[in-house]
Amino acid sequence: MNQDLILAKKAAIEAGKVILKYYKADYDIKEKSYHNPVTTADHASDKILKLILTTERPNYGWLSEETVDSPARLSKEKVWVVDPIDGTKEFIEGVPNFVVSIGLVKNGYPILGILYNPVTKELFSGSLAEGAYLNGDRINCVEKSKLSEMVILNSRSETRRGLWEPYKNIFSDLKAVGSVAYKLGLTAAGKSDIFASLRPKNEWDICAGNCIINEAKGKLIDLHGNTRVYNQPNTLITPGLIAGEISSVDRTLKVLKV
Ligand code: IPD
Ligand code: CA
Ligand code: CA
Repeated sequence: MNQDLILAKKAAIEAGKVILKYYKADYDIKEKSYHNPVTTADHASDKILKLILTTERPNYGWLSEETVDSPARLSKEKVWVVDPIDGTKEFIEGVPNFVVSIGLVKNGYPILGILYNPVTKELFSGSLAEGAYLNGDRINCVEKSKLSEMVILNSRSETRRGLWEPYKNIFSDLKAVGSVAYKLGLTAAGKSDIFASLRPKNEWDICAGNCIINEAKGKLIDLHGNTRVYNQPNTLITPGLIAGEISSVDRTLKVLKV
């Protein structure tokens, strides 16, 4: 039994319970930056995740969207890479497209991932060489040999801003869903053929999903074709991302490459 995976699942479920106390109820909202809200629920989730994960694994480093960053993590072999709520805008809108995202990296490589949607109770998990699962059932990415047959999950805001207009007739369908991390879980489970984003993301948005995608016979690359080495001083990944089954990702990169 992978003890880190058991611990991360427990932490995600506890954080999910805390988040549900605020969902469609009373909480404060602050704008961290333009179009980047944070709520009482994000901070409460961060607090319980940090308590459980760092108490049980005092030697691991910690990187979370809602914890002030510390360079201490840069010298650690293993580091938790956490987004307490990915999909805060959807949480606020009352759309159940948000997840708790817990990744673990070893020397920069993602070795564990948990994504938990507390509303739908979907729990996506993956750990190195042990496969990927959705609520205990094995999952895999789906291969599509033609772009015209692919269903792509993309961002609600990128769609609203018209960024996907040029690609409308290339793919079979473009579906806008909230939360990058949730989209990675859905793609690993074969509920879409590809996840793609045309805008930069942070390590905490994708680390857990990256492990789950890898373990579901897929890969995640940026729009230059590179895989991510995590736990870097600058956590922003530019200019965008593609994930899914390996050959389907390569086919998509030919169209989206910058
Ligand atoms: C956001 C979500 C969203 C993505 C944004 C992220 P948050 O994270 O992942 O899907 O388009 O770039 O900031 O703010 O809900 O944790
Ligand atoms: Ca996020
Ligand atoms: Ca977040």
